[in-house]
Order: sequence, then C-alpha cells, then structure tokens
Amino acid sequence: MEESEGLLDAGRPADSRRKCGCSRRLCFCFILVFAAIFLFFYNTNLTEMTTDWNPFKSLGQSKNSPNTTDFSSFTSSPGPESSSSVTDQATQNNSVPPLVPYVSPGPYLVEYPHQYHFNINEPQKCSEQQPFLVLMVPVAPDNRAHRDIIRNTWGGDSSVLGKVVKLFFLLGQKTGEGAEQLQEQLLQESTEHRDLIQSDFVDCYKNLTIKTMVMLEWLDSYCSNASYAMKIDSDMFLNVPNLINMLLSAPKTNYMTGLVARGGAVLRDTNSKWYVPEDLYPDSQYPRYALGLGYVLSSDLPKKLVEAAKHVRALYIEDVYLGLCMQHLGIPPTDPPDWGYFHVFPVSYSRCAFSKLVATTTHEGADRTWMWTDFKKPGLYC
Ligand SMILES: *[C@@H]1O[C@H](CO)[C@@H](O)[C@H](O)[C@H]1NC(C)=O
Ligand SMILES: *[C@@H]1O[C@H](CO)[C@@H](O)[C@H](O)[C@H]1NC(C)=O
Repeated sequence: MEESEGLLDAGRPADSRRKCGCSRRLCFCFILVFAAIFLFFYNTNLTEMTTDWNPFKSLGQSKNSPNTTDFSSFTSSPGPESSSSVTDQATQNNSVPPLVPYVSPGPYLVEYPHQYHFNINEPQKCSEQQPFLVLMVPVAPDNRAHRDIIRNTWGGDSSVLGKVVKLFFLLGQKTGEGAEQLQEQLLQESTEHRDLIQSDFVDCYKNLTIKTMVMLEWLDSYCSNASYAMKIDSDMFLNVPNLINMLLSAPKTNYMTGLVARGGAVLRDTNSKWYVPEDLYPDSQYPRYALGLGYVLSSDLPKKLVEAAKHVRALYIEDVYLGLCMQHLGIPPTDPPDWGYFHVFPVSYSRCAFSKLVATTTHEGADRTWMWTDFKKPGLYC
C-alpha cells in the first residue's frame, strides 16, 4: 500500500488537526530543560551512565532485546507498574510529588508510560451491562458539536442486533484561557450523558498517542468484559449493525482490524507533518498498522498493548505506534473480511453505499445528521 502524507492526514480527526499553540511557553520550557540537562551532566560522571539512559536508542532494537529502553527517564514520576495503576483522581489526591526533574521526550516521542489519572470517569458502566462492543471516540474537549452529532446518529443506539453497545468519548485537558469554564461545561455534559472519560494529559494533536494509550488503559481497567472495542474518530460515519455482523464471526482474541497499511513509508522530509528522524526509527518502512481513523480490537489486546508499550518508545504517530506495539507482541493486524468495509477517502453519501460499509471518513461540512435521518428511513437500501 502506498503511504502518502495525504492518506495519513485524511484519517485524522478534524478537530485535532491543529497545533498545540503554546510555542512561546514551549521555548521557555526548552530553555529550562536544557539548563536542567546541562546541570545534570555537569554533576554526573558520564562514564557511569548506563546505555539504557540514551533517549535516542534505536526503536527497532527494542523488539525482543533484553536491554530495552528505560522509560523512567521519560517520565516525571515513576512509570506505572501495571495497567491497573491508572486510578481515579479522587484516590490520588495525596500522592507523592514527582521526584525526578521533568525531561521533555522531544518532539517525536510523547510522555508515556506515565501515571495519568481520570478527572471524569465512568467506572461502572461496563460492568453493569457487559457490552458486546464499546465505541471509543477521541475528541477535543471543546468539540461538543461532534459529540452531539455522534450521540444523535450512529452512537445513539445502546442495543444493536440484540447486542449491547456502549459509547464513550475520550478527552484530555485543555490548558490556558477558558480552561476552567470549559471544565465546568464538561462536568455538566458528563452528568447529562454519562459518556465522558477525561484524563489529565494536555489535549492536543501531538499527544494523540497518549490519548490512545490512556484509552487502552481504561479499557483494560474498566471495560475488559466487553468482547470488542473500536476506536473511531469523531468525523467518521459508522455502520454499527455491519460492524457487529462482521464481529460475530471474527476471532475473539489477538484480533485487530481496520484499514491495514503495509509497507508504510517513514517520512524523512523534515517539513512533513509525519516526519520521524532516522535515529528514532531507522527502517524505511513501518510494520503493518491499522489506520487511526477506525480500528477494532478484541478485548484481550488493550492489556497486551499497554504491556508492550513499556518496551516500545512512544512515537507521536498514534496508529503507527500501535503497529509497533503489535509488532512487539508478534500479532499483525488483519484485513477486514471485505475490502469495502473501511474507507480512508470519504465515500459520497447514498443509502446504498452506506449500507455496505462499516466505517468511512465523511466530507468536511457534510450534514451528518441529515444523512443519518435519511439512512434510517425504512425501505430498500439499494
Ligand atoms: C466481568 O463479568 C464478570 C462475570 O459476569 C463479573 O463478575 C465481573 O465483575 C466483570 N468485570 C468487570 C471488570 O466488569
Ligand atoms: C502532552 O501531554 C503532556 C502530559 O500532560 C504534557 O507534558 C506535554 O506538554 C503535552 N505536549 C504538548 C505538545 O502540549
């Protein structure tokens, strides 16, 4: 499969296709970090340092290698010992402040593993009613519009073909102006809909890998009884009955499917949105990975991926990173049973076309509520 920047880009949620917008502060942070690093080296005998510390050790070597990178150097507090270490904020109020000085992971890695907490959580919803399918939608905190569209369209049915389906939105935290007010609105929205999961990392495009990993931790901690989980971007159309039908005859373990990219090129143009330097990932191609716009996981995989992530450095490209973790596990993502099920290029709406697919990106500005109303009308599809 030919991997182009445009192809990758098309699979990104529209609301997160913007920069983090904190450049001046970032500059200041870099200066602080460099000062900290300088002082650290100044006071440390370099020869005493283990090779494990080297943050630019090749990613490719981490597979099956005994001297895996020590992640504690990337985190400001001791990394999670197990996936169950993700706990509610309420139980963490008396936690010890970080002892290790903050070291930025640099522009191409994210701060993970790290002990993130949930500000807003739904710890009971999955155990109350064991769902067959959980839909996990990463969305920016301020993007209420997308959440409402999904609640009123394909995400609104809690029972499909007799199977329990649960919908959750995954949020990070906004910082800066208006953050407090937004947080109040989110708490209100959460009371109203009981479908928000918010963790305490900074929500921005560069941090999507953190969002995905926190999602997997959450699935492992609070929703491991669901048979399958699907991560789906907020600008997608999802045909839930077709997805359920597909899953009824799918493997129950070690199963990941979606639009699987093979031989995806590693982009070396420093201007590329998906640039990855050679010292971070020396191969010219990525292993097989399912494009981030929408992928399905069997319920055993979240735990395994969270474990694998302790051994594979957290690249900022979310879907590629899961591919690297899958490679570490030795479980290649599989193609869906039908080539027409997943679409990275928007399929133009028609009842017939949408009745045959599982997931597709939608044209920007398309009226998804109208589409849904039309799609749900009784009558033949084709
Ligand atoms: C999973 O299901 C079992 C049996 O139905 C139940 O006892 C258990 O509490 C559930 N676990 C979770 C995490 O929901
Ligand atoms: C990503 O999140 C981490 C943890 O909250 C934060 O330290 C970092 O600054 C965020 N990255 C960006 C680019 O904002």
